[in-house]
Amino acid sequence: MATWAGTEVSALNPLRALWLTLAATFLLTLLLQLVPPGLLPGCAFFQDLIRYGKTKEGAPPRPAACRAFDVPKRYFSHFYIISVLWNGFLLWSLTHSLFMGAPFPNWLHGLLRILGTAQFRESREGQCLEGNPSLALSAFLVLVFLWLHSLRRLFECFYVSVFSNAVIHVVQYCFGLVYYILVGLTVLSQVPMDGRNVYVIGKNLLMQARWFHILGMMMFIWSSAHQYKCHVILSNLRKNKAGVVIHCNHRIPFGDWFEYVSSPNYLAELMIYISMAVTFGFYNLTWWLVVTYVFFSQALSAFLSHKFYKSKFISYPKHRKAFLPFLF
Ligand SMILES: NC(=O)c1ccc[n+]([C@@H]2O[C@H](COP(=O)([O-])OP(=O)(O)OC[C@H]3O[C@@H](n4cnc5c(N)ncnc54)[C@H](OP(=O)(O)O)[C@@H]3O)[C@@H](O)[C@H]2O)c1
Repeated sequence: MATWAGTEVSALNPLRALWLTLAATFLLTLLLQLVPPGLLPGCAFFQDLIRYGKTKEGAPPRPAACRAFDVPKRYFSHFYIISVLWNGFLLWSLTHSLFMGAPFPNWLHGLLRILGTAQFRESREGQCLEGNPSLALSAFLVLVFLWLHSLRRLFECFYVSVFSNAVIHVVQYCFGLVYYILVGLTVLSQVPMDGRNVYVIGKNLLMQARWFHILGMMMFIWSSAHQYKCHVILSNLRKNKAGVVIHCNHRIPFGDWFEYVSSPNYLAELMIYISMAVTFGFYNLTWWLVVTYVFFSQALSAFLSHKFYKSKFISYPKHRKAFLPFLF
């Protein structure tokens, strides 16, 4: 009988518990937005934690004590610098292990075990292997997608987006720094291991290729292209026809997915994470928990942005939804 150490006991391992907690926190915060304003926590600190950028304008006046913890929103680039470096390192380690048989460093292997991966094979003689046979290729592709996504976002932060003097809270900033480290570790924790080495069934990675890898890749490219397009539309709102930045105000965006929702870049973000779930073969519970977190966190930001647009612009398109076309 094949066993994966801890498969049965680790249904709720530390990584899954973390993503579940984050998803539940953002769901609760989103639901709080639906209750009458008088019943909402008016505490400035709470508002500061859930709002950032332009949506801070819709919050009650912020005391000086709150403003002391402001960090420029243009520091978003730091998240992607960390991600490109960290996830680049994880990708390098995985590639070396997959193609050259190099074991993971001890500390990384230990860290993955602590985080509770269910994929460590018990290497007792005579056991055969169960589990998703394409998991090594899936995890490899998702890590490549994550790295490319971070690289594109970094490029956008430096060369596409026009930032205003908008701010984020220092807690949000710290969360953003840790976030991509956790996402990368979550992907790597899905790789089947045999000791410190990646276990590849059949020893040929390409033999693991399945239709969902192609579908996931196409979805990833399609969602990324739309997200890029939306970020270009937003930056053009602040430029003249010659491409020179002429102001840093917030205007009504039009075109592409903006015709359907107020925050198509958040919708594209969700689609990018869903494309990774597809690449994992649809059945990866840990990754669906990550997707659930992204869904609720982006839905909250989209809801607050939608409220901001509707309160600021009388002529705001009536048919436009916040996050999901025709629905929400
Ligand atoms: N995976 C995650 O957990 C996560 C979390 C957060 C963000 N993200 C992703 O990161 C990307 C950026 O997020 P974001 O919250 O910064 O998006 P955003 O608020 O839409 O801002 C994107 C850029 O457009 C500018 N902008 C926004 N609205 C504008 C308007 N009405 N007129 C002119 N310029 C406008 C912003 O400038 P200013 O804001 O400086 O004014 C910023 O430079 C998104 O694609 C999002 O999905 C992912």
